[in-house]
Amino acid sequence: MENRRMINTDLQEEDVHIEGSLRPHSLNEYIGQEKIKKTLRIYIDAAKQRNDPLDHVLLYGPPGLGKTTLSGIIAHEMGVNMKVTSGPAIEKPGDMASILNNLQEGDVLFVDEIHRLNRQVEEVLYPAMEDYVIDILIGKGASARSIRLELPKFTLIGATTRAGLLSAPLRDRFGVVQHLEFYNQKELKTIVMRSADVLGVEIDEDGASEIARRSRGTPRLANRLLKRVRDFAQIRYDGRISYEAAAFALNLLEVDQYGLDKIDRRILKTLILNFQGGPVGLETLAAAIGEDAGTLEDVYEPYLLQNGFLNRTPRGRMATPFAYRHLGIPEQEES
Ligand code: ADE
Repeated sequence: MENRRMINTDLQEEDVHIEGSLRPHSLNEYIGQEKIKKTLRIYIDAAKQRNDPLDHVLLYGPPGLGKTTLSGIIAHEMGVNMKVTSGPAIEKPGDMASILNNLQEGDVLFVDEIHRLNRQVEEVLYPAMEDYVIDILIGKGASARSIRLELPKFTLIGATTRAGLLSAPLRDRFGVVQHLEFYNQKELKTIVMRSADVLGVEIDEDGASEIARRSRGTPRLANRLLKRVRDFAQIRYDGRISYEAAAFALNLLEVDQYGLDKIDRRILKTLILNFQGGPVGLETLAAAIGEDAGTLEDVYEPYLLQNGFLNRTPRGRMATPFAYRHLGIPEQEES
């Protein structure tokens, strides 16, 4: 599960640093996800006008599309602090109780990978989300009793790669549920230009377009590629990111014209060469490429599905004619 977020391992290192500095802080600076921005703006303004905390928010969608960034923006726009944790990090109900009890009035609690909270921990959240209280059990056996602790009003923001992975009682307690979509190339290009400006790198329109085109609709990847391309531009070119510098660097990084990386291509090649293009079950395909099935499904498949490389059928995954063409493998005639 550790590798759930890794799209391209050799591009991971500087993530924390770049993402920190490149993240927009307000809704106005945030590029893309127009529908989400419009509705959030209304909910934020309305809650602020009433002096209420914002209702709990569930953000779902593939990794790297800005769930953490949006959460930070919500906290910033509401003028409150954000505490960050994740589903797998909270092991015991007492840990969750303590996190909740330490929040300040109005704070945002961001729980990444919220579908990975265990059941007992999740149950602490139900009354906390609904009535801002937690019930704590004191003592043991016959003398055990439960006391109710009032919490400060807070906003829970949960992030998950798929809303379907959440238990129904938890999902139902979110007042606002938003799905993040892949970004189009125009949006990604604007993000790349903005990031280059923040980093102080010179870039031209064609250089930005090329990085955008190969970023799988994902700002996190666009920013990562921008940093790598910057290194090539600095050492091999004159420091400016032109189309040539970008294309040269991205080819060396084995990120192709459609943004597919080595692992994406291995998935498609395995499907075509080992399983005659499918249909093949997710678990079987994952085992054949040596990936975790959850990672394959949450991290790699959404982009391949949405861009016509892969189909999901009741009998399993199938490579499309477009995947054959892209990889230069002739389709076999049915015999
Ligand atoms: N950096 C990463 N994601 C971004 C976005 N959606 N808008 C602006 N800058 C970003």
